[in-house]
Amino acid sequence: MLYRLARSLLFSFEPEKAHHIAFKILETIDKVGALGVLGERLPNNPVNTMGISFPNRIGLAAGLDKNGAYLDVLGKLGFGFIEIGTVTPEPQDGNAKPRLFRISPCEALINRLGFNNLGAVNVANNLNKSKYKGILGINIGKNADTPISQAHLDYKFCLQKLYELGDYFTINISSPNTQGLRELQKKILLDKLLAEITHERDLLAEAFGKKKPLVIKVSPDLDMVELHDLTHIIKHHSIDGIIATNTTLSRDYVEGFPHSQQAGGLSGKPLFSRSTNILKKLHQSLGKSSTLIGVGGITSAEDAVEKFQSGAQLIQLYTGLIYQGPGLLKKLAHIKP
Ligand SMILES: Cc1cc2nc3c(=O)[nH]c(=O)nc-3n(C[C@H](O)[C@H](O)[C@H](O)COP(=O)(O)O)c2cc1C
Repeated sequence: MLYRLARSLLFSFEPEKAHHIAFKILETIDKVGALGVLGERLPNNPVNTMGISFPNRIGLAAGLDKNGAYLDVLGKLGFGFIEIGTVTPEPQDGNAKPRLFRISPCEALINRLGFNNLGAVNVANNLNKSKYKGILGINIGKNADTPISQAHLDYKFCLQKLYELGDYFTINISSPNTQGLRELQKKILLDKLLAEITHERDLLAEAFGKKKPLVIKVSPDLDMVELHDLTHIIKHHSIDGIIATNTTLSRDYVEGFPHSQQAGGLSGKPLFSRSTNILKKLHQSLGKSSTLIGVGGITSAEDAVEKFQSGAQLIQLYTGLIYQGPGLLKKLAHIKP
């Protein structure tokens, strides 16, 4: 009810502006001490996976807090884990505005933000200042002007700068808004990339005395051959987890609605079946060898149950939160696979 009111106010602003206003509102609510109440009411529903003890299975997906600037308020909403980023080595502005669009009748968004973020060093400073004590995933990527042949250097740089500060690291090779990035999901490039990144992680594990899990975030637009090759390589490199999925280039279920032809990745309800299909296929080929994190179009308890039944051990939310607010977490936090 309260969020419905807030939403009608927020949706009167253009989407990116609304995003910033929403965080200001959250910070104000936090200052009067009312934010913690939301998280405290959630049931305890812990799970152990990837060597991490998660207080519950519901996480915040990457992209909402790209710079780890809002962890203190987000941490009070009751998420079992929060993933920040995508973080690149150098700061970058991303694509020209407008670059975020609502398709409200479909509870969907299209974004082509293009990894706007402050860069690894500034993000590390934000994290050092934060009081958040929950489980933190850090999603890393490459700068727009780094050639694909040099991409591994960007991921390694981000790992080095942020290793101490995250509980797990997500290798984002599936955003549709950085030219050529999805090429890294292909057999030969992926094999080389994962060899480089796992080697770097192993060096850091030795230096810091702790081996931190690596997770790969995949696209919902992979065909069966690509998916088959990808799972083979993921197994070969003993990757700890897979996030299925990022946004889609498909316009299924939104055609004809305003903004549906905007370039970028589509998220929210129309993505649900496509991302769940990929999740099922990954589960069939990987079994329990990697932790599966289901994300894409979750807007109800039924959706969450279906993600768990399709093999997810953890799930993440983004667009559902924009349309339904933090109350969505409350609907999901008690669900067990
Ligand atoms: C505005 C916006 C920005 C996003 N930015 C990122 C990002 O920087 N890195 C990333 O891995 N995923 C990003 N995503 C994808 C989400 O993390 C998630 O995978 C996707 O939106 C599907 O989940 P949903 O349908 O619940 O939104 C972004 C999504 C949206 C809507």
